[in-house]
Amino acid sequence: MPKKTLADLGDLKGKKVLVRVDFNVPLDKKTGAVKNDRRIRAALPTIRYLLDAGASVIAMSHLGRPEKAKPEERQLLTMDQVAAKFSELLGLPVKKAADEVIGPAVTAAVARMNPGQVILLENLRFDPREQKNDPLFAAAIASLGDAYVNDAFGTCHNDHDASMVAVPAALKAAGKPRAVGFLVARELEVIDGLLAHPQKPVLGIMGGAKVSDKLAFIAALLRKVDHLLIGGKITYAFLKARGVDVGSTQVDDAEIQAVQQLLGHVGSQITLPVDYVAAKSDDLLQTQICEGSIPVGYEGVDIGPKTVEMYKLKIAEAATVIWNGPLGWFEQAAFARGTQAIAEAMAANPGVTVVGGGETAEAVEQFGLADKMTHVSTGGGAFLAYVEGKPFQSLAQIDDK
Ligand code: 3PG
Repeated sequence: MPKKTLADLGDLKGKKVLVRVDFNVPLDKKTGAVKNDRRIRAALPTIRYLLDAGASVIAMSHLGRPEKAKPEERQLLTMDQVAAKFSELLGLPVKKAADEVIGPAVTAAVARMNPGQVILLENLRFDPREQKNDPLFAAAIASLGDAYVNDAFGTCHNDHDASMVAVPAALKAAGKPRAVGFLVARELEVIDGLLAHPQKPVLGIMGGAKVSDKLAFIAALLRKVDHLLIGGKITYAFLKARGVDVGSTQVDDAEIQAVQQLLGHVGSQITLPVDYVAAKSDDLLQTQICEGSIPVGYEGVDIGPKTVEMYKLKIAEAATVIWNGPLGWFEQAAFARGTQAIAEAMAANPGVTVVGGGETAEAVEQFGLADKMTHVSTGGGAFLAYVEGKPFQSLAQIDDK
């Protein structure tokens, strides 16, 4: 059932709109400065639409995992630097409502707002009730707004987050409308289209470090794609499970167990790298290209040149390419070649090219190729869960058209 979008919210003049954004952006570990503002930029069209329509905007997001952070790390998780970046990108003043997530200071700040103004609530996860779908906490937030917009695709899979589920439920109880913003609408349109009627042949590319927490995603992908290419650290779990010596590459037993159920597809639907770059564990400058086993003291860090050429050909032949997970240790420039080559080959493909969020999106941005893809998702875990077909409570809360 299609969901209400911004145009369905009716007359917004003088209305206060609660917008759940996903400003859970990567921060500099020492200064807390925003390292990548992609998620903030992605929410701007929705914010601008609401302001142009005469509304004021109460934006809210979580940032990091303060419940697990040490006190000195927690200090860096306030919304101050995010508010400053948001303000800079929007070209309008944006103030944090208060140092508390909800309470009298926030209510007063919201009461003072005029049309065209924006405020940002403090990091929602500073209040432990956020991750418990607490109804009283949700009711207090919901009472601030006349309407609710979910523009936080990256958080849509979090069924326990009050701002995603209990807050829109409280707005419904009060007879107020709930819609998705442009960012979420676009994510759903692209991913739904991809899953329902992909242009064939469909190629999947799967990298990253772990298979064990992505098995359901891979199973869903294997039902959709004609072929799946493997890269990244998960390669070595496949190799080890097939009895190949992977030298000093760290592979957990859980990973080997996880790939066992996929081994039957290798050679038919799944292609593994035929060579890889291995670096000396105690001196990363010493590398060698390996085919077959990796010597002791060395670990696999990237796909090798033959694999790059083979994968480029496969990408060029595909009408649709879905990619999740870097092909190597791309944060190290010397080991980013495989990931970059795959990104470039996708960028050159005139068909449909979709990149799952998280690290893969960061890599594509880093190479300056994000604009060359059909779609780069803002969701990491949410992208995987949506492709798996997991129902999202957050989207169930949005009014049907
Ligand atoms: C993400 O970055 O994937 C989302 O913002 C959700 O964050 P979480 O994994 O901390 O719930």
